[in-house]
Amino acid sequence: MTRHFLRDDDITPAEQAEILDLAERLKRDRWAVKPLAGPQTVAVIFDKSSTRTRVSFAVGIADLGGSPLIISTASSQLGGKETPSDTARVLERMVSAIVWRTYGQAGLEEMAAGTTVPVVNALSDDFHPCQLLADLLTIREHKGRLAGLTVTFLGDGASNMAQSYVLACVTAGMHVRVASPEEFSPAASVVDDADRIAASTGGSVTLFTDAAEATSGTDVVVTDTWVSMGKEDEKAHRVATFGAYRVDRELMDLAAADAVFMHCLPADRGYEVTADVIDGEQSIIWDEAENRLHAQKALLVWLLERKDAG
Ligand code: CP
Ligand code: NVA
Repeated sequence: MTRHFLRDDDITPAEQAEILDLAERLKRDRWAVKPLAGPQTVAVIFDKSSTRTRVSFAVGIADLGGSPLIISTASSQLGGKETPSDTARVLERMVSAIVWRTYGQAGLEEMAAGTTVPVVNALSDDFHPCQLLADLLTIREHKGRLAGLTVTFLGDGASNMAQSYVLACVTAGMHVRVASPEEFSPAASVVDDADRIAASTGGSVTLFTDAAEATSGTDVVVTDTWVSMGKEDEKAHRVATFGAYRVDRELMDLAAADAVFMHCLPADRGYEVTADVIDGEQSIIWDEAENRLHAQKALLVWLLERKDAG
């Protein structure tokens, strides 16, 4: 049956490990497989801005022998004149997969329910699962393992990145700590889902309001913008609220001595992270950005192997 990747827990722990192993192999041997030879086309649709996601999918699809079709929603019928499911019914007649960056998760679910080709969430308001495959690949490269490590996400705990960290890391058997003001906690349903997964993987999720407590002894320190796309109207309130969660030298010194710093980018230096940390020796952000390419190629290969004949 065709599989989709709309949230981090759409794949099992074993499937996540399989995709990460394949990503590692494709990083070593970049043009090893060409499942999109033809070339077959993959539609990559953007309702929101992007640099990394756009480039990594376009390059990755070309690496796999295919042709990327980058669509800006503003210049298409989607997002006003046509529903996600009607759009999917048309696209599936011509493309091999659909990648979509959008706002609500419901649109992605509608798109996936209406089509026989794999649908990939390239970021929604709720989750950024492709980024997490890249982040896990990067952590594994730097630490040699995932299970048993502790990762601390600081800042907007209700954001797509925080919620994806919660789901993807417990799937990998990691201990996830989220430090945020209470009003920006991850959704209770996401924490419940993570708890269920953690029961079988040995991972855990713990919510904190105190940044220092959450960072103490941790292996991986992560943050993201305080003002995600779509939240621009709330900027003043957010900047006033998140100050205690800024990742600076003092906070990094509470983490394990060999802790790494991660950020999906784009970053606002001086807001969620100081320049000395993000540009410092513990930062692995450029490996993280590169790994978008390898992780998403592995994901596409894996999804295409499971696609219905149609
Ligand atoms: N990290 C990330 O998804 O970056 P873009 O918004 O540039 O795609
Ligand atoms: N949380 C950020 C991630 C950007 C890649 C946003 O949604 O804007």
